[in-house]
Amino acid sequence: MKAIVCNKFGTPNTLQFQEIESPSPKKDEILIAVKACSVNFPDTLIIQGKYQFRPEFPFSPGSDVAGIVEKIGEDVQQFKVGDKVVGFISFGGFAEKAIVKAKDCFPKPKGMSMVNASAFLLAYGTSYHALKDRANLQKGETILILGASGGVGLTALELAKLMGAKVIAAASTKEKLDLCTQFGADEVINYTEESLKDKVKELTNGSGVDVIYDPVGGHFSELALRAIAWKGRHLVIGFANGEIPKIPINLTLLKGASIVGVFWGAFAQKEPKKSLENIHQLLTWFTKGYLKPHINKTYALKEAPKALEDMIQRKVKGKIVIDMDL
Ligand SMILES: NC(=O)c1ccc[n+]([C@@H]2O[C@H](COP(=O)([O-])OP(=O)(O)OC[C@H]3O[C@@H](n4cnc5c(N)ncnc54)[C@H](OP(=O)(O)O)[C@@H]3O)[C@@H](O)[C@H]2O)c1
Repeated sequence: MKAIVCNKFGTPNTLQFQEIESPSPKKDEILIAVKACSVNFPDTLIIQGKYQFRPEFPFSPGSDVAGIVEKIGEDVQQFKVGDKVVGFISFGGFAEKAIVKAKDCFPKPKGMSMVNASAFLLAYGTSYHALKDRANLQKGETILILGASGGVGLTALELAKLMGAKVIAAASTKEKLDLCTQFGADEVINYTEESLKDKVKELTNGSGVDVIYDPVGGHFSELALRAIAWKGRHLVIGFANGEIPKIPINLTLLKGASIVGVFWGAFAQKEPKKSLENIHQLLTWFTKGYLKPHINKTYALKEAPKALEDMIQRKVKGKIVIDMDL
């Protein structure tokens, strides 16, 4: 099979497009013919050896897959060859075939394209877990979303609106903020042009925001936390900015506020029942038309290095996807 392969840690241009042996499923796994695999920021880190874990070489990046079941392990009951599925893995998705644990796989809803399906689980799963389980976001509360036009950011925006919150979207360009407005943002802030803290205070009549969704990190985190409301929750999602911020802890004391870590992958492994309930809720909302993944661009498998580079260069709005049919 053809695959994008990482043979040594490095930038996207060091990845190889090559022919490798197709993997075989173990007892609790399924082999799927990958039809689409979305790109997520952790894919840009894993190939550089900068993610939480370092796979053994050679490996393919890619964790959000949709495809057709080709083989099943002997213990797998819930799927059969030919089923259309969506699943998540740690890596291995930028390839014509991928192995997924059956427990991390779900039937693809009818009417959901393979491209949309591959762009769904990780982004919506992370944001729903963050807003519901970690922030306990309430109807009528105000949330500030940093990097709001990005992969996880835009899903947080959609879900926060669905949950009845008022959304302040922050991003780096007018084009990105226009997309946030289309997705229902009540207010927008260009954080490369305006003071994040001052603008949030102005938009909330001085009271600050109840929840901060922060996939960006760097100096933006402290600026946002300085504009949090009494008993606010600052959700630590990631550090796309490249810098892990060091926060003066007294800021939490002054506001009775919490800094709350979010790790969807670990949640799905440690609390599978709750994670499953969340995923079913999200798929139901998709089927009802409440959630609309925004696909910015699709790429052929051999163009995956370009897709990763576009993400690193901050060129992506919503999701980008490797489409095996291209
Ligand atoms: N905790 C979890 O379970 C979990 C799950 C999934 C992802 N994540 C993390 O969430 C973050 C976002 O992931 P994603 O897939 O949504 O990525 P993405 O689509 O690239 O979005 C990241 C956003 O961050 C902003 N940004 C600011 N500085 C940046 C920089 N130097 N380089 C790139 N982007 C920058 C960009 O918006 P502007 O240009 O508007 O600033 C961009 O839209 C990553 O750190 C990822 O590791 C965490």
